[in-house]
Amino acid sequence: MKTILITGGAGFIGSHVVRLFVNKYPNYNIINLDKLTYAGNLANLKDIEDKPNYKFVRLDICDFDNVLKLIQDEHIDGIIHLAAESHVDRSIKDPFTFAKTNVLGTLSLLQAAKAYWDSLPEKYEGKRFYHISTDEVYGALEMTHPQGIEPPFTTKASSANHHVAYGEKFFTEDLKYLPHSPYSASKASSDHFVRAFHDTYGLPTIVTNCSNNYGPYQFPEKLIPLFINNIRHRKPLPVYGKGENVRDWLFVEDHARAIDLIFHKGTIADTYNIGGFNEWKNIDIIKVLINTVDRLLGRNEGEDLDLITYVTDRAGHDLRYAIDSSKLQRELGWEPSLQFEEGIERTVRWYLDNQSWLDNITSGDYEKYYESMYKNR
Ligand code: NAD
Ligand code: TYD
Repeated sequence: MKTILITGGAGFIGSHVVRLFVNKYPNYNIINLDKLTYAGNLANLKDIEDKPNYKFVRLDICDFDNVLKLIQDEHIDGIIHLAAESHVDRSIKDPFTFAKTNVLGTLSLLQAAKAYWDSLPEKYEGKRFYHISTDEVYGALEMTHPQGIEPPFTTKASSANHHVAYGEKFFTEDLKYLPHSPYSASKASSDHFVRAFHDTYGLPTIVTNCSNNYGPYQFPEKLIPLFINNIRHRKPLPVYGKGENVRDWLFVEDHARAIDLIFHKGTIADTYNIGGFNEWKNIDIIKVLINTVDRLLGRNEGEDLDLITYVTDRAGHDLRYAIDSSKLQRELGWEPSLQFEEGIERTVRWYLDNQSWLDNITSGDYEKYYESMYKNR
């Protein structure tokens, strides 16, 4: 494969995927297609923007004519599709935008890829359409063990001193989709379209469903960067409900490595779940963040615990996500590389060292949006 289109490359995960591919594959042309919504930020790619094998194109995935033209003009061989609206709280306020970008935008990209590849003598030979999805499409798992039990499986990402699962059940690839939020419903719908294009037209597709990512360059409306920033500035930490909801956290660079592996070695038409067997209740992770920020800023560890502010729960808040990624480990040999404690330390340090990156985002319009989002909670 020579020319790869990465959509959503100016966002959080996309920027890590673009960086990995541009640096690791100098003989590939990497084209980053991004609309630059509020979540897209070219500052995320400063270190690679001048590389000869990298090009940025500002485009909306819903703009079928121009997407098709780009795919034809650039002779795209492979697509890694990350562009999406990605924040659950926004989807609750504005579901329509999520259906448009996540469902119709994915359909537009599928149609354009199919139209171009159909026109080639070799058709789908050597081509690949890789769709990045989320574990949230599976719905929510029960919390049958609120105190935690030993997980059936561990990985290098699993925390060293917090080694628990909160139920016996995990998300496996054969589970029925049961999305609850407008965000996860739109992602589920896009996953179905991707599979339909394989089953109906033979398009060489792959879908992966990953757990919650954390790391540098995440937009500070998501739990981890938002709270690191608030702790630093001693602003209240809005914990939804009782803070008992469980998420399974994976360092973003490990997700990018999995995407690289699956893009090159994954089986067409297959699905892989990606996660680290690293479940945390929100309130426990928030305490880790407070202790880490306090320590790194030279404050007394835990002195900012009183910033924790319990607020009205998110509507339809999924209780527990927990990924079983053993298929990916077994079939393709993927393993996360970074243990949670090390990943959190690196992440907190990055946000503290890159205050100007945060300041550029959290000023102006975003600040107004943020205030309106949280003032009634
Ligand atoms: P993000 O919100 O940080 O970035 C999304 C990017 O897509 C932005 O650069 C934005 O400008 C771009 N975009 C949005 N609408 C677009 C459009 N219409 N046309 C072109 N570009 C558009 O998201 P993220 O957290 O990096 O997530 C990337 C992908 O990974 C998404 O598909 C998401 O569903 C999936 N995912 C995310 C997580 C997570 O924890 N963040 C976990 C699993 C899967
Ligand atoms: P988030 O980062 O939005 O990811 P997702 O909803 O996709 O899992 O939220 C992670 C968890 O943190 C989720 O259970 C909601 C909770 N949360 C809060 O308690 N307060 C907040 O301000 C945010 C943004 C999230």
